[in-house]
Amino acid sequence: MQPSLDRLLRTSLRGFAPYKPGTSVDEVKRRYGFEHPVKLSQNENPLGTSPRALAAMQHIAALSDYDEDDHRTLKERLARPYVLDVGNVILGHGSNELVMLVFGAFVDPGDEVVLATPTFSLFRKDAQVVGGTTVEVPLRDGVHDLDAMLAAVTPKTKVVFVCDPNNPTGTRVAREALFAFAKALPSDVLLVIDQAYREYMDADGTDGVDVLRVRPATLVLRTASKIYGLASVRFGYGYASPQIVAWLDRVRLPFNVARPAAVAVLAALDDDDFIAASVANNERGMRQLGDAFARLGVHAYPSAANFVAVEVPVAAEDAYAALLERGVITRSGDGLGMPGRLRVTVGTPEENAAFLDAFEVLLATWRARPIEALT
Ligand SMILES: Cc1ncc(COP(=O)(O)O)c(C=O)c1O
Repeated sequence: MQPSLDRLLRTSLRGFAPYKPGTSVDEVKRRYGFEHPVKLSQNENPLGTSPRALAAMQHIAALSDYDEDDHRTLKERLARPYVLDVGNVILGHGSNELVMLVFGAFVDPGDEVVLATPTFSLFRKDAQVVGGTTVEVPLRDGVHDLDAMLAAVTPKTKVVFVCDPNNPTGTRVAREALFAFAKALPSDVLLVIDQAYREYMDADGTDGVDVLRVRPATLVLRTASKIYGLASVRFGYGYASPQIVAWLDRVRLPFNVARPAAVAVLAALDDDDFIAASVANNERGMRQLGDAFARLGVHAYPSAANFVAVEVPVAAEDAYAALLERGVITRSGDGLGMPGRLRVTVGTPEENAAFLDAFEVLLATWRARPIEALT
């Protein structure tokens, strides 16, 4: 008999499941035979990719050489609107890589990391990879409970995550509350503000860089995956002090940003028409969904992002499965720490309407169920 390989796996990874992405379009086509399933599950841009980014990528002449590791032009472009320096910018293979760098650079086994629950699942997963201890603070009314998070900080705390807007609830923290929290945190704790959905926030939303200006141990994360429609090229960026950037750089892989990503992002950042159209589509879609949810009497958290967390009167997994059978892909809140809710990405007006049509029909059947069937 072959000896077991169990001893190979690091202790912190035993009983650990890999990141589970949403159901793919191909899977729904294969399983249910839909030609064009409606995918509202991964918070992508329903308008597609910035046309300027696609055009710029057409002009790439060669990929045979290593691109410059520093990507100075791109860093200058990202620093410019904030009048920051290139030394304040860190680039990543998606902002997911930057989250990993935080753990690689700062978290030893047993160090504590404070985060909300539910929040973006990767924070917990990456903490587990390095053997960090997560201290998870429940949301209050769907929003980060910053007072409770502050109270959870101990001398062992290295990093605190605030996801603003929060995935999976879409909620944002109040500006004054975030500033008060940032100032009250011990100055040697890293505050990570993940703002993957920042561009969708309205004027009341907080720009994490304003927090960085008053609190140096802060890292603000952004991504090209959402409003710029570039999830496939994998590009994220962060703003921080030169010291924090230099420490993150120590654990970064060389050449972590591929040339197609750098070329596409540089063009997308100036694609004002596409950005404006994406924001307008999102605002319209939010109204379309919000009006329908109000009419149907189902609760949804107020969302500052491009998705909404809506309550269902059955198990979230059942609601998700019933929608899937009708060709609409959403995310079940069960796997996101949000039982009893679905996370629905804002689509095009037609996609939202297709979702709402299916949702309304199903809601009537769910509500007509006998009480015992609901348990
Ligand atoms: C809060 C949050 N951060 C980061 C990401 C992913 O970013 P990226 O594609 O840049 O790795 C997501 C994607 O869903 C997210 O919801």
